[in-house]
Amino acid sequence: MRRLHRTSMSDTATPSRDRNAQQTTGSRDNASVPTPALRVVDLACSFGGVQAVRGVTFDVAQGAFVGLIGPNGAGKSTLIDCISGRNRSYRGKVGALGADITRLPLYKVARRGVVRTFQVARPFPKLTVLSNLMVGPRDQTGERVERTLIGGWHGQERTLVSRARSTMDVFGLGRVENNYGSELSGGQERLVELSRAVLCEPRVLLLDEPFAGVSPVNRQRLADLLKGLVADGNMTILMVEHRLEWVERLCSRILVMVEGSLILEGTLPEIRSNERVIEAYLGPSTV
Ligand SMILES: Nc1ncnc2c1ncn2[C@@H]1O[C@H](COP(=O)(O)OP(=O)(O)OP(=O)(O)O)[C@@H](O)[C@H]1O
Ligand SMILES: [Mg+2]
Repeated sequence: MRRLHRTSMSDTATPSRDRNAQQTTGSRDNASVPTPALRVVDLACSFGGVQAVRGVTFDVAQGAFVGLIGPNGAGKSTLIDCISGRNRSYRGKVGALGADITRLPLYKVARRGVVRTFQVARPFPKLTVLSNLMVGPRDQTGERVERTLIGGWHGQERTLVSRARSTMDVFGLGRVENNYGSELSGGQERLVELSRAVLCEPRVLLLDEPFAGVSPVNRQRLADLLKGLVADGNMTILMVEHRLEWVERLCSRILVMVEGSLILEGTLPEIRSNERVIEAYLGPSTV
């Protein structure tokens, strides 16, 4: 079991936390410390007077499935936006698989293997499911709709169609391949979003509330799919999720954000027994 790593607002804001963060992913012996999938150092982001993220530092080990929890407004989505390059107005450093991706735009971050999904899934309403997947992750690869639609079904496109169909099969979207984005249920929208991200063959997948809008019946299926993605150890997932049930089932390690700060990381039992987390997030009745 990993040691609970407790941080305060002040020490997350110091560069020395970088060393601490490295320890949380495994060995302290520098020679044998593997390159983390994700390294975030002292990341801070404000909107006017609102400090959404306040000097957050952590590592995510390669192959890990890590949960990011916290109350509404804690800064979780802002953190994902900054890591993924959707928001580049932040202070601090972000690294992925040994490369510095600090303030790179979304599509360049995606090219480095870090791909995200959005809290609100937004398939193109007037494109079919297949075309939605063919467009490539919106804002991530720099692909344009026209290039895919006008370019004809040659070479690369044909391969992409074939890969898209395989992905749709895996995600249970095969029977709605020709449905328009506007015709999809919330759960299907979520699966289209996820399929599109997976088609980018990410090494690091950032998921912002993947279970939102998914029917209770399909949640187990989605959980199995997510578990399958990390099963061979080649993909790393950082997942924002409010539903602790799924965090508990999927994640080996959990990060807790409150009011912009990373206050704690550990396993769910460790998190559940922490007074500050109970007070700030879980509430006494949920533990
Ligand atoms: N574009 C923006 N402009 C101004 N303030 C913003 C913007 N985006 C986020 N905020 C503010 O930053 C803070 C963190 O918001 P964020 O969406 O990151 O929280 P969250 O943890 O993802 O919340 P939730 O669980 O509700 O999705 C909040 O106070 C929010 O109001
Ligand atoms: Mg959010």
